[in-house]
Amino acid sequence: MKNPFTIGIVKEEKFCNREKEIKELKSLIQNGQNVVIYSPRRFGKTSLVKRVLKDIEKTDKNFVGIYTDLFPVSSYQDFIEFFSKAIIQSVGKEVDKTFFQKIKNLFKNIIPSFTVKPDGSFSISISINHSLSLETLLSDLFKGLEKYLNKNNLKACVVFDEFQEITTLEDSKKIEGIIRSYIQEQENISYVFVGSRRKLLVDMFTDKKRPFYKSSFLFPLKKIPKSEFVECIVNSFKKTDKTCPKKEAERIYDLVDGYPYYVQKLSSIVWDLTEKRVSEKIIDNALLTLIKMESIDFESIWINLNKSEKIVLKNIAKYPDISVFSKEFIEKTRLSIGGIQKAVNSLTKKDLIEKEDNIYKITDPVMAYWINKS
Ligand SMILES: Nc1ncnc2c1ncn2[C@@H]1O[C@H](COP(=O)(O)OP(=O)(O)OP(=O)(O)O)[C@@H](O)[C@H]1O
Ligand SMILES: [Mg+2]
Repeated sequence: MKNPFTIGIVKEEKFCNREKEIKELKSLIQNGQNVVIYSPRRFGKTSLVKRVLKDIEKTDKNFVGIYTDLFPVSSYQDFIEFFSKAIIQSVGKEVDKTFFQKIKNLFKNIIPSFTVKPDGSFSISISINHSLSLETLLSDLFKGLEKYLNKNNLKACVVFDEFQEITTLEDSKKIEGIIRSYIQEQENISYVFVGSRRKLLVDMFTDKKRPFYKSSFLFPLKKIPKSEFVECIVNSFKKTDKTCPKKEAERIYDLVDGYPYYVQKLSSIVWDLTEKRVSEKIIDNALLTLIKMESIDFESIWINLNKSEKIVLKNIAKYPDISVFSKEFIEKTRLSIGGIQKAVNSLTKKDLIEKEDNIYKITDPVMAYWINKS
């Protein structure tokens, strides 16, 4: 039997619940609203948006989902390349006679070329006339897409995943301004901005001085509720002829604080270690394996922190119930209040800590174990 748990993008029967979020997002998107989806890393944003686009496409033949991953952008040319490729890919899901006709006049200055593989799939490359300005190229993209949709009586949703990466580009201010000017005019296109660097992303949409201010509906993605995730875990074991009692599934969820990626990863390790029936001991062993597996990532984050950041992080991990600005915390860290404040700000910006019920906690529960163990 194959391990039923995955740490990739979750689809179909592996996708657990999120019914409320799916319904809300569908309705926002179908009403042409713009949305910002944000959460810590690996909470299920990409899986969720992809699922929603697919669901709408299935029921509405006049709807096109356009998914663009901006994580690797390092210049505005990259942005143009990734976005235009995503548009082309969505317009023609498969290469047939109508495909080349459809995309021939899509853009004026962005020229796609194709290599068709033996299995019928194709890869696209884009050539851009570099003497043209950023404005001209972006206008070509946004207007080209709109014209195509209008002509064919279609509606679309454009997803920009890891959208905060735009802010790292040299021309970011200009790009933000231009994108905003198009998204506010285009009624038949809903734009969805997704990201895990929450402060960077949310600042873009809530800072009065920024172009995206009040342009979009803010949609913080939460964890999957315990009862629902537990049911999914129990069922996945059952389907693969193993047993995970509800109590043990709850233990898996609780140990990693319901963090979706870790719930899957820990379940996956537990599944590998289990012959027939999950026990508490197996879960405890699996957790040690998980911490070990993640430690390389944590080490590389750790070495890039300064001394006060390390001290603050260590003490938050050790004393999760003490407020970072209390006298007790100051005594334990031996830092000044100003020093703590500075470290708290930078750790928040890096998404390593976050405020929950007015107390700072380590965002990543496995990182907290790792800090306490090292
Ligand atoms: N609905 C779900 N059902 C089950 N598992 C899920 C679900 N959503 C997310 N997960 C788990 O979380 C992991 C991360 O999902 P995904 O890549 O969609 O998240 P993300 O928020 O886009 O992450 P990143 O911040 O790295 O881009 C998945 O591999 C899966 O293990
Ligand atoms: Mg993602």
